Amino acid sequence: MTHPTSPEAAAATQAPAASYFQRHIFFCTNERSNGQTSCAQFDAQGAFEHCKVLVKTAGLAGPGQVRVNKAGCLDRCAAGPVAVVYPEAVWYSYVDKADIEEIVESHLKHGQVVERLLVPPDVGH
Ligand code: FES
Repeated sequence: MTHPTSPEAAAATQAPAASYFQRHIFFCTNERSNGQTSCAQFDAQGAFEHCKVLVKTAGLAGPGQVRVNKAGCLDRCAAGPVAVVYPEAVWYSYVDKADIEEIVESHLKHGQVVERLLVPPDVGH
C-alpha cells in the first residue's frame, strides 16, 4: 500500500477518470432571435436527428461508445451549421446528410477525422 502523501498516491488521484462515453458529438441547434444567421436556419435539428439514428443503427450508441447531443450556440456561428466531437475537439461544418453520414462512418466509427469538413481555426463568432 502507498502512503497517502507519496508521489504515487498523488499521481493516482490526479489520473483522469475513464470517460463514460468514448466520443461525444454536439450539434448547435440554436436559433438567434435577433435575425442573425444561426445554425437552426440550416436544418441543424434534422442533422442532429439524422446523426442520432445513424449512430444507433450502427450500434455505436451508449456507454463506452458514442453520445449525440444538441447544444445551444457554440459561438462559432460564422462557420455554421457546426458540430464538435470530443474528446478530440474536432469542429465540423456540414452541408447535408451525406456529410453527417461521413462524420459518423469515418470519425465516430473509426476515429478518422473528416478533413474536408473541418472548420478553419480562425472562423469564430
Ligand atoms: S448559432 Fe450555431 S454556433 Fe452560434
